Amino acid sequence: MKKILVSAAVFSLIIGAGAVSAQALSDVETLGKPIYESTELSLERTQSCATCHNSVTGFADLDNSVVSLGDDGVSTGGRNAPTSAYCGFSPVLHVNKMGEYVGGMFWDGRATGLTLGDPLAEQAQGPPLNPVEMHMTDVQMIIDRMAADPAIAPLFLQVYGTDAFADADAAYDNLARAIAAYERSAEVTRFTSRFDTGTLNAQELRGRKLFSQNCTTCHAMGQHGSGHPLFTNYKYVNAGVPKNQALEDDPDCAYVYPDLGLGGFLGDSAQDGKFKVPTLRNIALTFPYSHNGYFATLKEMVSFMNDRSAYIPEVGANLSAEVGSLGLTEAQVDDIVAFLNTLTDM
Ligand code: HEC
Ligand code: HEC
Repeated sequence: MKKILVSAAVFSLIIGAGAVSAQALSDVETLGKPIYESTELSLERTQSCATCHNSVTGFADLDNSVVSLGDDGVSTGGRNAPTSAYCGFSPVLHVNKMGEYVGGMFWDGRATGLTLGDPLAEQAQGPPLNPVEMHMTDVQMIIDRMAADPAIAPLFLQVYGTDAFADADAAYDNLARAIAAYERSAEVTRFTSRFDTGTLNAQELRGRKLFSQNCTTCHAMGQHGSGHPLFTNYKYVNAGVPKNQALEDDPDCAYVYPDLGLGGFLGDSAQDGKFKVPTLRNIALTFPYSHNGYFATLKEMVSFMNDRSAYIPEVGANLSAEVGSLGLTEAQVDDIVAFLNTLTDM
């Protein structure tokens, strides 16, 4: 009898632990999760946000594809899917005192955050209506699907009020806010890597030091209110990544050469070739690398950051002199890669 009681106590402890982590999500975060995971947001019901931003692959493409296949089963996007975790600290796109662009969402900053006051929420309104992604034709259709989904509708009404589906545009803004809340939650933006919680070995410590000396002008250790280093300054830089010929050769791919990045979005040639400095959290899981997925492995990517002399940049203008000729040895590149491997969440 005593034994049964003990195991029952242990059992309730385990259940309790599960319940605690579920309770750790607020109502709006809890609502965001089934929306994030719902294939109802795509026309043919084949994909959700989690298809291209999955926890298994550090919240990047589940197949680790160079570019992601759309809901139509044929088209692919023109850029590599970055992680959807750790983005929530990017400010609204603005120009700082030095005249540099900072913030926004997407590789080219086009989800500025100026409409909803939150770039992450604004970003979430893009994919459902993107023809090469989730392919829905209008906002009303999306809201009708949400209102008919028993995993979403009751909680949506609870969080946003009984007439929350009455105005489709207002409902679409709230849908985006709920997704953003989930992406910012402790379930997605975890800060549970060995870098955060564990001990680094000698090689990783060497890599950490080399990283601080060579990489943090862009992959900065600033915390932006998160309480932890985020490995980006949210600025835009032309690092000199080459074009991806395989994408250009594929008629079903939305890749347009040359991809002008921020300059293409702003129509400002002084920003041509600049892409947002990505976070490096979970970087070991999110291969391939760079905006067009040119680099298959982390070692290739870091080697390029060290020495880009063998490559022709996709956009020759506005090249940053702060990357591409760092003068690191191969052993030092390996040390940095070892350090980056400690940024994977548990
Ligand atoms: C078919 C694959 C696909 C689907 C589905 C998809 N995404 Fe993405 N996502 C991408 C790609 C590709 C990019 C980069 C596009 C760009 O920068 O132009 C991206 C960019 C992002 C970013 C920007 C990250 C950053 O640092 O700038 C976030 C956040 C994001 N997606 C979240 C979502 C959410 C939320 C959904 C669901 C509403 C979603 N995605 C659906 C492929 C996808
Ligand atoms: C001058 C700014 C700058 C410096 C310095 C810099 N990077 Fe980057 N890094 C970038 C930008 C911008 C990108 C995205 C480039 C693109 O896709 O066109 C990037 C991309 C990356 C990526 C791929 C990320 C992804 O999600 O695909 C890795 C890994 C990386 N950098 C590591 C490093 C390391 C390691 C160093 C130091 C040895 C370093 N970087 C130095 C700006 C910089």
